[in-house]
Amino acid sequence: MKDIYVLGIETSCDETAASIVKNGSEIISNIVASQIQSQKRFGGVVPEIASRHHVEQITLVIEEALEVAGLQPKDLDAVAVTEGPGLVGALLIGIHAAKAFAFAHQLPLVGVHHIAGHIYANQLIQSMEFPLLALIVSGGHTELVLMEDHGSFQLIGETRDDAAGEAYDKVARVLGLPYPGGPHIDRLAGESETQIEFPRAWLEPDSYDFSFSGLKSAVINFKHNLEQKGESVDPTQLAAGFQASVIDVLTTKTRKAAKEFAVKQVIAAGGVAANKGLRASLETAFQEEGIPFYVPPISLCTDNAAMIAAAGSAMYVDGIRANLSMNGRPGMPLESWK
Ligand code: KG4
Ligand code: ZN
Repeated sequence: MKDIYVLGIETSCDETAASIVKNGSEIISNIVASQIQSQKRFGGVVPEIASRHHVEQITLVIEEALEVAGLQPKDLDAVAVTEGPGLVGALLIGIHAAKAFAFAHQLPLVGVHHIAGHIYANQLIQSMEFPLLALIVSGGHTELVLMEDHGSFQLIGETRDDAAGEAYDKVARVLGLPYPGGPHIDRLAGESETQIEFPRAWLEPDSYDFSFSGLKSAVINFKHNLEQKGESVDPTQLAAGFQASVIDVLTTKTRKAAKEFAVKQVIAAGGVAANKGLRASLETAFQEEGIPFYVPPISLCTDNAAMIAAAGSAMYVDGIRANLSMNGRPGMPLESWK
């Protein structure tokens, strides 16, 4: 069978990325230009600034992805681009670049859901086996998705308020840590055993939904109360207490769902899946259950284009095509493609 080379493009948030993936599972090149240094100054992502950065970087990262791969546009089979969800201005930069490239080189175009991309990052390390349960934890999403097959997504739980990464970033901000806060809280949490018991939002007994805003408020109130009494706050203790609550809820619900749906594989995806404590907790839980658990290396957990190329390759093989009228879809739902 002929090898398939797909160019992936990702610009939904603050990384401008292009990658070439062979046969949906082998990374040939993976270029990420991050804006984190610049967005740090504002304590978060400013959409207008994100779009400007993408405009400056997009052509360069696509050229570099081809150069590192040692391939010409004519060697490619398709172009896959993040269609949504994300910041609309940011998405459009990647989409316009993808359309122009596809049109100029007469290549098919595929529109990829960002979360499908995060899930398919796992295809780059381990082939997916179904039924599969995916825990997606990123800056904008906290979801449990059941997959019966490639391209089939069933949402069984999601956050009712803040995403896990959002809670990490907000708590980090209160603790005076730089953006994005997740890695800093992760580091601090690893430095201390927690003695502070923050609440766990289990919600209704059978619910696979999540809620993190109450926890976030509890951490903030705890800090303010101490400060009002003139006592000092130990950031490592707060970070460890906050992280213990997040990990407990994520692990318990994922474990329960994996058993209920009798899945053959559990995967974690998204920026928060880079968290050391969460990775260790999920690994232990699924070792105990005897269910194979996989999580991509940290560089493939945070936003990248290899994951978009991987999902795009599976869609391309299934005959899914977009046309040149594709638009950015900021609120795009995760729909099955078959
Ligand atoms: O998937 P991602 O790169 O972008 C989105 O699609 O949102 O996720 C970014 C999120 C941020 O909230 C960041 O703080 C969080 O992932 N994050 C972490 C860690 N590394 C990144 N959260 C906890 N622990 C980490 N080690
Ligand atoms: Zn993401």
